[in-house]
Amino acid sequence: MNLNIFKKYNKPGPRYTSYPPATFFKSGFTAEQFIEQIIRSNDDQPQNMSFYVHIPFCPRLCHFCGCNTGISQKEEVIRRYVDAVITEIESIAKYLDKSRNVSQIHWGGGTPNSINLDYVEEIMAVFRKHFRFIEKPEIAMECHPAYLEYEDIDRLATAGFNRLSLGVQDFDEEVLKLVNRAPSKYPVKDLVHYLKEKGFRGVNLDLIYGLPGQTKESFARNIQKTIDVSPDRLATFSYAHVPWVKSAQKILEKRGLPTPDEKLQMFETGHNLLTEAGYVAIGMDHYAKAGDDLALALKNKTLARNFQGYVTRETTGQVYGFGSSSITQLWGGYVQNVKTASQYIQEIEAHGIAPDKACLMTNDNLIVREVIAEIMCNGRMNFEEIGQQFGKTAFEVKRIVAFQPEKLKEFIEDDLVSINKNEINVHKEGFFIVRNIAMAFDPLLKTTEAMYSKTI
Ligand SMILES: C[S@@+](CC[C@H](N)C(=O)[O-])C[C@H]1O[C@@H](n2cnc3c(N)ncnc32)[C@H](O)[C@@H]1O
Ligand code: SF4
Repeated sequence: MNLNIFKKYNKPGPRYTSYPPATFFKSGFTAEQFIEQIIRSNDDQPQNMSFYVHIPFCPRLCHFCGCNTGISQKEEVIRRYVDAVITEIESIAKYLDKSRNVSQIHWGGGTPNSINLDYVEEIMAVFRKHFRFIEKPEIAMECHPAYLEYEDIDRLATAGFNRLSLGVQDFDEEVLKLVNRAPSKYPVKDLVHYLKEKGFRGVNLDLIYGLPGQTKESFARNIQKTIDVSPDRLATFSYAHVPWVKSAQKILEKRGLPTPDEKLQMFETGHNLLTEAGYVAIGMDHYAKAGDDLALALKNKTLARNFQGYVTRETTGQVYGFGSSSITQLWGGYVQNVKTASQYIQEIEAHGIAPDKACLMTNDNLIVREVIAEIMCNGRMNFEEIGQQFGKTAFEVKRIVAFQPEKLKEFIEDDLVSINKNEINVHKEGFFIVRNIAMAFDPLLKTTEAMYSKTI
């Protein structure tokens, strides 16, 4: 791995969890417009439906956190929030074609496992009452291991959950103290073992590098521990420092953030240890065991990406988001709910739905989104093939993404990308800076550069 390449390309840029990125969503989207989009989505692809449920409560707030969450509320507020989620599901269910199937449900936050699991069961029962599921849907929850009991795992399994992600962040309790985070209640290795015994697949751990107190050596120890725990998947997120959005992150500046060079070394050490141990790199910050669905999808070039991370094209559907700040991700556009839990409860109690911002796709947006998704997920893109999908020529696709060969010149010189007539291939090392490569195909980029975190 050539670290100079990372340094050279360590620039701010979108993460392309959506295209256009969330910074392009515009406020003022009305309930009528939202319902129109929901009805239209019944005729769009994919046919399957994925649901996302956002739980914006955490018992304690980590100083590094970039998520939409807040401190846990009194039981009565949580009850009202859960009722609002149920109302929202019932409002949207009215407009969804009941011959469609649910292929995925993802619970994120915040910390969904920190609320009473009765509420989780209640919401799952509402989904089952209204919708049909595919034979083996993926039902996942992001869990904070400090608040996870073995009985919770049993209950989640009974409620249909079959995927779990554990937010470890760092195994070192001193680092966790510096970022105001509670450690796992039980040894992570035992939790993962138990999850696998219970039939959970794609068990994932989240780690972050770039926090105060972390060094190249300590991060290597984290990775060694992770390899010993043997999860099916692992996310090693580069700490995204955006204090202009998340003011609590300023505290970490005082506690001493690692330098960009140190962060790079952590990434390199982690990457080498993980690949030696047989993990396959999926995009920039995800790894999976060679037999895992994500690694297979990468091999078969059927990997996709949404706000929940990397997903396989076979199972993912159009995503309908429930809860504050959740994003509905349709073929025709993105709609985000109002941001805070209190605004959400108010809107739902008054109107049954709570859209705020949106970005509807133009035909050109659809094409750029496909080009960027192919680069980001599968490292290969052919202008002619994409054109065929949309009734355009390769020349027209190039014009729409504002393609200029000079934008790829440096990548080609650094042996990160090759271009052969209409086909672009990202080389193995290019995958580490794939979002920079994707930026070369983004005609909207120039106006927003300064608002994103850096690649590493
Ligand atoms: C909703 S949390 C996962 C569930 C639970 N709240 C927890 O913390 O364990 C989503 C993940 O985002 C990652 N994350 C949060 N803030 C981040 C930041 N500023 N930079 C990079 N990753 C971040 C963490 O790894 C975290 O596990
Ligand atoms: S990282 Fe997880 S637990 Fe920590 S504040 Fe963010 S959402 Fe809550």
